[in-house]
Amino acid sequence: MPLFLPHFNLQKFNTLAVPSLAQYFVSVKTDDELREALAFARTENLPLLLLGGGSNIVLRADFPGLVVQIKSQGREVVDENEEFVWLKVAAGENWHQLVVFSLDNALYGLENLSLIPGSVGAAPIQNIGAYGVEIKELVAELSALNIRSGLSVTFTNESCQFGYRDSIFKQSLKDQYVITSVTFRLRKQPHLNLTYPALRAALANTLEEDITPQQVSAAVIDIRQTKLPDPAVIPNVGSFFKNPVINQQQFDALKAENPTIVSYPAAANQVKLAAGWLIDQAGWKGREVGGAAVHEQQALVLTNPRKSSGQAVLALADLIKQSVFEQFGVMLEMEPRIYP
Ligand code: EPU
Repeated sequence: MPLFLPHFNLQKFNTLAVPSLAQYFVSVKTDDELREALAFARTENLPLLLLGGGSNIVLRADFPGLVVQIKSQGREVVDENEEFVWLKVAAGENWHQLVVFSLDNALYGLENLSLIPGSVGAAPIQNIGAYGVEIKELVAELSALNIRSGLSVTFTNESCQFGYRDSIFKQSLKDQYVITSVTFRLRKQPHLNLTYPALRAALANTLEEDITPQQVSAAVIDIRQTKLPDPAVIPNVGSFFKNPVINQQQFDALKAENPTIVSYPAAANQVKLAAGWLIDQAGWKGREVGGAAVHEQQALVLTNPRKSSGQAVLALADLIKQSVFEQFGVMLEMEPRIYP
């Protein structure tokens, strides 16, 4: 039986370092312990918060329910052929440790996703992506427990319905499953993605055919460390907003007024904007309001340097949304999830 801890302070369990008390907290290492935790929540009629690395949540108050920290560990090769290895990884494993492990074992594909905070089980929920690669390109399938029935289900890559910062677990199956393991299809031979301009620029001194995945990983780590605050030093949850997608007509009008606007192609007749650019242009970079701040090197990242409340961070996020909307007519959507 896992240990249910009452009145548990979550400050060290969310990377925004917000102080918030959970009514109960439990750490689970196996599927059986997870089932027991879910049964406890059901019997006591407690709302649930499933916690991985706590790097994508904002706690706006105390949590009147059960927080379940997924701590399952393990990595196992489940299949291979000439080209690929299928590696099954427990949800509680740390994401970056997995990237390091894959490179140490000559398994390739994860290198662009180096140093992303969080756990393996949380990664598919928002289809983490950085420097030209999204996790959806590497997930073969995943296992998840149905919260109501306790039954384990396999989701193929296709049935996860991955999109930009999105999956079925944020849409129609929101709060219905707990991801318990993810099976990655990794390559035995390097197959680099150097499409992100700053990444290619960081490796400009090396001929493309000589670049190794280890070098890509090191370059990504370097870029991240210059642009993004280390959550262990300055509390943050990475990008606070998604990059908004607008239609071509609205984009043309914006571009006419803002010739330097940063954009990327999206689906047909749609354009993705850099939210960081919009927030930066609206004058927010480096500003601090009520204890929360906008990161000096990347305006898309809100920080909580004084370990203030989640309310302080959300209040700043609202001001930013309003001002970007007033200036550009674009509504930003928050990326982290708010609890309770
Ligand atoms: N920009 C500014 N000012 C800023 C920030 C950005 O002008 O303060 C401009 C940059 O110059 C660049 C553009 O906006 O032209 C885009 O910036 P960047 O390349 O840093 O990437 P992003 O679109 O802001 C996304 C992800 C990041 C990921 C990077 C790199 C989202 C919401 N965020 O950011 O993800 O690391 O691309 O691929 O899609 C995260 O999720 O926590 C995260 C950091």
